[in-house]
Amino acid sequence: MTELDTRPAPARTDVDDLVRPDRVSGAVYTDPEVFELEMQRIFREGWVYVGHESEVPEPGDYVTRRIGREPVILVRSKDGEVRVLANRCSHRGNRLCNAEKGNSSTFRCPYHGWTFTNAGDLVGVPMRQGYAERFLAVREELGLAPAPRMDSYGGFVFASLTAEGISLREHLGSATGAIDRLLALSPTGTLDLRAGWMKHRMRCNWKMVMENNVDGYHALFTHQSVYDAVRPAKVSHVPTKVEVYVRDLGDGHSEIDYAAEYTRLDDEFVWFGRAPREKLPKYVAAMEEAHGPEATHKAFVVGPPHTLIFPNLFLAEMNIMTVEPLGPGETIAYTTPALIPGQDEMNERMLRRTEGAMGPAGFLIADDGEIGMRNQFGLAAREPEWIQLSRGIETDIEDETGIVNHDKSAETPQRGWWKHWSSVLNGRAPGAVSGSTGEERA
Ligand code: FES
Ligand SMILES: [Fe+2]
Repeated sequence: MTELDTRPAPARTDVDDLVRPDRVSGAVYTDPEVFELEMQRIFREGWVYVGHESEVPEPGDYVTRRIGREPVILVRSKDGEVRVLANRCSHRGNRLCNAEKGNSSTFRCPYHGWTFTNAGDLVGVPMRQGYAERFLAVREELGLAPAPRMDSYGGFVFASLTAEGISLREHLGSATGAIDRLLALSPTGTLDLRAGWMKHRMRCNWKMVMENNVDGYHALFTHQSVYDAVRPAKVSHVPTKVEVYVRDLGDGHSEIDYAAEYTRLDDEFVWFGRAPREKLPKYVAAMEEAHGPEATHKAFVVGPPHTLIFPNLFLAEMNIMTVEPLGPGETIAYTTPALIPGQDEMNERMLRRTEGAMGPAGFLIADDGEIGMRNQFGLAAREPEWIQLSRGIETDIEDETGIVNHDKSAETPQRGWWKHWSSVLNGRAPGAVSGSTGEERA
């Protein structure tokens, strides 16, 4: 009689079966094995956005976050260094810090009271006489584990839970240009992400939330109520009438780029409800003082980026979005306005606009959450297997900025996302650390 084979099933690495240049299988959103593979290859081994330096300006400031499913603390330690530490007590694994944010010189575990400095060193073990000498010898190794890799760009802090791999700059590739474009709107070249995070629990896959942000096709339909209520120009969604481009920036990053259209119009603040300069005199003066009149005019015309940075950061013009995947069909989306330090008149307007778009009674994100949920419902039907992503494939143009399509409703960003996603999951992407079957196939 053959013995039962009790070995676990091998993880599916053959995601190439799920992704074609013009379509993907619905399983990419629903399959628990795919989700597990993403947690490993994307969220453990790759670079993941964690938080912003402005959220922890003073020594002792911290916020708690998750990288994939793993809890971390982003903290400015007493030496002024920003650190990403495992939010896990080194005694028996309790989640150490349970507040969303705060300021503290130490973290004390709620279970047995072990205490760590805000740099992660273990400094307090209650009733330590109960431990043998052997423990005392290894005690200094029991600090909070720092993320093996951590780096930042423009104040945006990223970390990786694996020591080896490409640098953050390599990961970001040309997406650094989008961060620069946002920072160009600040007189100090810095942002303030402390307005508070809006949280939306979405009953859909995290990739649906991210990809939809660079879908230039859905607005007239999913957001029809906006057009019915506030009547913005529908013409801005007719591809032949506007110069709004979609772009696959490579490395999974992509965008909807309004720069050409705004430059053609040469009007300032079209992206900001066409607010006239006179309404923002202090901001205009601070910008001109910092950057000169020409660069200021250009920044005001071109406006902020609408750029998705793989895997979990979306520069939503003057908002920032990140996602926390909870499972194949459940995600928390976090959004906050990108405030400009010291510019109250600007920030006041920004808060109102953010409430209108992203707030609980807002226009945009509620629609997107609902459509995401319905997408997940639809995908429960396993046939037909494929989701169509061929829109604009014949009109994509490759240039020095990436793969561009002059029709904003083209699915160029989605094709770029999936190409990169499959190469990361198969260990083929540059800097991927996992053993791979992808090489043999390539
Ligand atoms: S688990 Fe933290 S002190 Fe015991
Ligand atoms: Fe939308």
